[in-house]
Amino acid sequence: MKDKILVTGGTGYIGSHTTVELQKAGYEVVIIDNLSNSNREVIDGIEAITGVRPDFVEGDCTDIPTLRKLFEEHPGIKGIINFAASKAVGESVHKPLLYYRNNLNTLINLLDLMPEYGVKGIVFSSSCTVYGEPDSNPIDETAPIKDPTSPYGNTKQISEEIIKDYVASGAPIKSILLRYFNPIGAHESALIGELPVGVPQNLVPYLTQTAAGIRKELTVFGNDYNTPDGSCIRDYIDVVDLARAHVVAMTRMLDGKDTDAIEIFNLGTGRGLSVLELIDSFERATGVKVPHKIGPRREGDIEKIWADPKKANEVLGWKAEVPIDETMRKAWAWQQRLPKN
Ligand code: UD1
Repeated sequence: MKDKILVTGGTGYIGSHTTVELQKAGYEVVIIDNLSNSNREVIDGIEAITGVRPDFVEGDCTDIPTLRKLFEEHPGIKGIINFAASKAVGESVHKPLLYYRNNLNTLINLLDLMPEYGVKGIVFSSSCTVYGEPDSNPIDETAPIKDPTSPYGNTKQISEEIIKDYVASGAPIKSILLRYFNPIGAHESALIGELPVGVPQNLVPYLTQTAAGIRKELTVFGNDYNTPDGSCIRDYIDVVDLARAHVVAMTRMLDGKDTDAIEIFNLGTGRGLSVLELIDSFERATGVKVPHKIGPRREGDIEKIWADPKKANEVLGWKAEVPIDETMRKAWAWQQRLPKN
């Protein structure tokens, strides 16, 4: 058995897939989640896939006594992957304090307790949103950080700064900041996946719900952008590929002797796809049509962004592998397992 890892937000979308990959790699996982945007059945899914039930603590990382109790009852945690955060861009504009409180207090509490409980490293979920609208694509880790366009995006930028300052102060920890591009899809077993609450804001859950007849039609937000077909371009990365990157990062951080105390990696495929291309890919992969119309641009959207993942490829030895059609098939298999309501 390898080291014990704390996965905050471990019943959430990326957290659950990462827990599966950590367990497959031999790590022991303790999850903490307040179930604000997920449910405890996810633990059953993880167990069904891996044959191992991760330890689960229902609790909120903004509460220090809860975290202390967790570290005392689960001694020997060596690493943390911090997924526990609010992540809806639109909501963050209306409830900024909720976002600053959840996302920043969680991180500060974890960092504060790490030395005391002997935790060596933290992998942080950051986002390509820190690059804003890039001057050119693909974008690598040295690209300038732009003014955030939402409180959510700002929490990612501030969190990166907090970690950097803390490490610079001499705190005995290491950190890897992972800047995700657009994670989509589900586990091939269709036992875990994304569980959007209410009307999905992100493209793929809206698309699969439309294909399933839950939504009447998908609106493509704008076709007058400066892109080949006029719709926005993103770097869509399979969630299992993304989850595997966390395992590699954790192993490097905990076992690597000469690695820097802070490292930053872009996690993307290196391939930009437009909204219309993604719809095409879904229809091709599943044979199911997605009723859609062109609508106005969505406020705050970036025109085009895709990753230069060279650093992650070379330094981490990790590469996104799942073809987009396969990702779409998995997203559809998961949608079909979800109740219609
Ligand atoms: C946003 C955030 C990102 C965050 C991610 C996950 C920004 C700039 N990006 O990514 O930081 O990590 O959400 O919550 O804040 N689209 C449609 N119709 C729809 C839905 C989406 O056409 O019904 C289009 C969008 O205009 C966009 C693309 O699909 O071009 C992807 O949108 P979405 O899935 O919401 O992700 P991002 O906005 O790229």
